[in-house]
Amino acid sequence: MMKSGIISRYRSFLPVTQRTPQLTLHEGNTPLIRADVLSDRWGIDLYLKMEGWNPTGSFKDRGMVLAVAKAAEEGSRAVICASTGNTSASAAAYAARLGLRCVVVVPDNRVALGKLSQAVVYGAEVLVIEGNFDQALEMVREIADDQGFTLVNSVNPYRIQGQKTAAFEVCEQLGEAPDILAIPVGNAGNISAYWKGFIEFHQTSRSSRLPQMWGFEADGAAPIVRGEPVEHPETVATAIRIGNPASWKTAVAAAVESGGRMDTVTDDEILQAYRELARSEGIFCEPASAASVAGVFKQKQSNELPDGARVVCVLTGNGLKDPSTAMDAVTVKPKKLPCDREAVREAIDSREGT
Ligand code: F0G
Repeated sequence: MMKSGIISRYRSFLPVTQRTPQLTLHEGNTPLIRADVLSDRWGIDLYLKMEGWNPTGSFKDRGMVLAVAKAAEEGSRAVICASTGNTSASAAAYAARLGLRCVVVVPDNRVALGKLSQAVVYGAEVLVIEGNFDQALEMVREIADDQGFTLVNSVNPYRIQGQKTAAFEVCEQLGEAPDILAIPVGNAGNISAYWKGFIEFHQTSRSSRLPQMWGFEADGAAPIVRGEPVEHPETVATAIRIGNPASWKTAVAAAVESGGRMDTVTDDEILQAYRELARSEGIFCEPASAASVAGVFKQKQSNELPDGARVVCVLTGNGLKDPSTAMDAVTVKPKKLPCDREAVREAIDSREGT
């Protein structure tokens, strides 16, 4: 039987021991789907790394499975994190599986309902603060120290170790690294993890080349591109509504060392890419994920996307996480009708060709 989960598949690349629990919810091994319509339109060879197909619906599962397994191995009884939603959903699931206590601190209002419902159903203790992600992270860093809880935000090095396996898979799926890896940037852990993964596969001769790393922040939450922390970050892409990323330096290093770039995308550009992915490619990701595709399109418009380039966009989370943004983002809404066949026929006729 094929090995399931990133810990067993990539064991030799990970800091695991005989005593590390064999924890898995079958994370990783996500599809790489070619975006045929957008490839033709933009004159490139575009692929989408479908991280929303992980067990809790985001890429966080790759890092969390390792962080929680190591926490248990080291005798920890509780994990804690701050989150814009996905980290908390993932932490809650893996902690539940190993019977660890899980405390999550999330910002008020802006956590998508799908994510919040995951955390509560998995049995995490969910604390909602009247503050933003950056403030929540500052708090849990201190509390973790005081209480002896294991912090499972991406400042935990096992998170990055686990998440680097996505870069391994991209190389395996394409035969080597692509020309460009485009990725949304929030707390900046994931871009750092991918770069680490590409370097390790290159150094061990599993990929003959390295990609350029292109990271995209939301325009209203773009500390790295602006060069200073943003006190009140705002964006429709709530997952990346972050003003002072923990992995700032390693993210910049990834972009610089790879000859890549960091840029911003507006909420309109994000939502346009979000709708386009769904309507043209049949792929429903969450708004933050669409920042990668929006960013590639922006480079195309400014003539900075090389013709024929092989590009992988990381779609970090599943669209079902945030149904209310989906309903707000479309112009053609569901239409309510009387229970009457003629009314249904008329509605169908009136829509023809639209
Ligand atoms: N995409 C999604 C769907 C995310 O949930 C996140 C981060 C990112 C992109 C950005 O990744 O932080 O490594 O640069 N979400 C975190 C959370 C902050 O709490 O779930 P990053």
